[in-house]
Amino acid sequence: MRVTVPIVRQWKVADGIQKPLVMVTAYDYTFTKLAEAAGVDILLVGDSLGMVIQGQSSTLPVTLDEVIYHTRCVSRGASKALVVADMPFLSYQISEMHAIEAAGKLIKDGNAAAVKVEGGEVIAPTVRRLVDLDIPVMGHIGMTPQSIHRMGGYKVQGRPSSSGAGSPEQILRDAKALEEAGAFCVVIECVPQELATAITKELSIPTIGIGASSECDGQVLVSYDLLGLQTGQHRPKFVKQFAQLGQTAIEAFTTYAEEVRAKTFPSPAECYGDERSMLGPASADKKKVASNG
Ligand code: KIV
Repeated sequence: MRVTVPIVRQWKVADGIQKPLVMVTAYDYTFTKLAEAAGVDILLVGDSLGMVIQGQSSTLPVTLDEVIYHTRCVSRGASKALVVADMPFLSYQISEMHAIEAAGKLIKDGNAAAVKVEGGEVIAPTVRRLVDLDIPVMGHIGMTPQSIHRMGGYKVQGRPSSSGAGSPEQILRDAKALEEAGAFCVVIECVPQELATAITKELSIPTIGIGASSECDGQVLVSYDLLGLQTGQHRPKFVKQFAQLGQTAIEAFTTYAEEVRAKTFPSPAECYGDERSMLGPASADKKKVASNG
């Protein structure tokens, strides 16, 4: 069954019916197929692509066209999961018209079913406008990576000692403002678990935690982080590596390089024979080539 926005909108774990929502980031067709095979509910084409795909030091340089391109790749591979596209920095903050145009492109050209925006009270009128135009919106509060310069780095937000935009009171107000504006769910990133739990209880829409609380209605991680694809980099406390695919990839590249240099790859099994040879794997390969046209 396809996961849709109305299905997610109703997904409150406290109701006792649902298990937590499973969300991961995806940026291309192949990883989308793998995540779908694992039964992931929501695929987020995150602007984290700026860091894990492009090697940027923040998400700020990511453009709308880049997110559209990756959303198209993901949409082609997604047959069950809900595809949500991140709205990159300055694609929705300048004016509501900019936001409508950018979100519309992510839906129309990227084939996303919903968009995600960072921010709370300040961005709520824009969320309302998008939702009124039938563009479903996922919110994102707490540690919002597009606010890196205000926060002075990727730091835990909502500690009892924090004030201003990062205070627990303001983050709770942000969550409520998004709900009132019609967001269908909200990501809560890097806040104390007590705050994430309180927000989850307070809202009728689901919360999706990252570095937040197991009491959220779902969890999200950057797929490259959970697969352990990034080696030798600082790993935040909330990132659990469920595999070490980076190390596996290094080992495969190393063995490949050794075999190329030793001329043991390609072996006869990986080579084609010419048409005079009727022996060995080459004749079977000829049939394969013929059937491939
Ligand atoms: O861009 C992203 O990957 C995100 C998730 C970490 C929630 O916003």
